[in-house]
Amino acid sequence: MRKNIVAGNWKMNNSLQEGLTLAKDLQSALNGKTLNCEVVICPPFIHLAHIAGEVRTIGLGAQNCADKVSGAYTGEVSAAMVASTGAQYVILGHSERRAYYAETNDILKEKVLLALANELTPIFCIGEVLSEREAGIQNQVVESQICEGLFDLSAEDFGKIVLAYEPVWAIGTGKTASPEQAQEMHAFIRKTVAGKYGAQVADETSILYGGSCNAGNAKELFSNPDVDGGLIGGASLAVDKFMPIVEAF
Ligand code: PGA
Repeated sequence: MRKNIVAGNWKMNNSLQEGLTLAKDLQSALNGKTLNCEVVICPPFIHLAHIAGEVRTIGLGAQNCADKVSGAYTGEVSAAMVASTGAQYVILGHSERRAYYAETNDILKEKVLLALANELTPIFCIGEVLSEREAGIQNQVVESQICEGLFDLSAEDFGKIVLAYEPVWAIGTGKTASPEQAQEMHAFIRKTVAGKYGAQVADETSILYGGSCNAGNAKELFSNPDVDGGLIGGASLAVDKFMPIVEAF
């Protein structure tokens, strides 16, 4: 059975103190609740070890990791370092990393392998930009991101991947994909995975939606058969905005 996951991507927000408070407040809000999804937060690197000590039922993830094992790579943080904080997840291939830090599918392939080698679950992001959707080539774009970034993996390793479909035109713009657009793309992604690894692996792959997901639209988005949760940016920065999304399942 595939997991439902609601993951908060804090991006470059919150001081350490603010982040600790947010994590503690979220944990308090979740205490005693029975949920139909796993809750994950992805704070900046330097918060991870501190927050790991504060959360009990919340999964913890990084927003990135290096494509190298270790050594003279000033400013980089390795997958092993991320894992050593107690984190279990790592977001890879977010469109902001692809666009602003020139992360290619070839680089991401290395990051995925290192994440898996360190027993981190990659949340691998895919999605088209507006001009690609307007040109009607969104399926080809997403398919090539999946093929080039992930399809060298064995079926066993692919089974450890969480996918996040994030149409770039919907990220931070307040413009959400309609539930129909999300379902259509998620079904296409699952079909693409099934074509490579078979129906069972595809059926067990969690595919999250991301892009201006909020308390008002989460329920409708998550009610689609192929939408298994969300990767939440802006609305993950306040407990009262994030909790209704978590509870939308
Ligand atoms: P958003 O970001 O919810 O603020 O649109 C989502 C993401 O980039 O993961």
